[in-house]
Amino acid sequence: MGASPTTNTVRNQHEPGNAGPATHIKARTEKPADYPERFSVTDNAVNWNIPYPEYAPPRYESPRMLERSPDPADIHGLTRTMQSYEQRGLQLDGATDEPLNPRGRTGMSGRGQLWLWGPNHAADFLLTRFNTDTQQLEALLILRNNGQWAVPGGMVDAGESPAMTAMRELKEETNIPFSTSSKTWELYRGYVDDPRNTDNAWMETVVLHEHLGNVSPSDGNAPSAGSDARKAEWKPISQELIQGLYASHPSFVRAGLEALTEAPGTDPQARQAAATVLSL
Ligand code: BGC
Repeated sequence: MGASPTTNTVRNQHEPGNAGPATHIKARTEKPADYPERFSVTDNAVNWNIPYPEYAPPRYESPRMLERSPDPADIHGLTRTMQSYEQRGLQLDGATDEPLNPRGRTGMSGRGQLWLWGPNHAADFLLTRFNTDTQQLEALLILRNNGQWAVPGGMVDAGESPAMTAMRELKEETNIPFSTSSKTWELYRGYVDDPRNTDNAWMETVVLHEHLGNVSPSDGNAPSAGSDARKAEWKPISQELIQGLYASHPSFVRAGLEALTEAPGTDPQARQAAATVLSL
């Protein structure tokens, strides 16, 4: 297990980049409204090693991204080193020198809405609790602008560690101040199957998780939405809720439930509730 690069209280449950989707689906089939239609990429044509001479994805770079990005429009002007959580290192397009998405073709070239060439780093904070009033396992979630519930999180700012970003975003989006502790786990570090991804720019994230234990909601502060969140709420965790979450967040919440079933300190009621949701 790698030592945590964030704080020494956050432990890794997985080797970086090992968990997560083997391929991507949302990055081939979903897109923000301003993107043109993606070139269709079937399951057997995703891998860059499979020759696909007819592959002709549209190129899209949003005007807002081009205005605000710290990266040059031409990859040859890039002076920083691109850092990926994926273990295999970055593959470059032999013809253009642009970085290639580590999970394969997306049907879209350019950077889309993403500010950086290659990996764009985010951090997310999954907080769970067992609600003793309702006897349900809950997660603190936000409603994103696109109408999907998500784990609170956002982009890592220059000079921030992922743990700092996760704490800042949790506070900004839910108004719940929270710091990592010896009970905080790093659930995931790697690629995110995000609808904004392109062949040359993609999301990667670090997901932290802490379970608050048995809580009666009347004990604590209620969340309230801030920043770009439309709502912030403790939501009962069900399969239906998990399936509708943004990007790779379904797998983050599932990983959180698995951690609850495995961790020796989990209260029996929470362990049972987590196991029940996972079994459905
Ligand atoms: C979101 C994160 C998410 C990441 C990758 C960011 O914009 O704020 O919650 O994990 O994108 O999808």
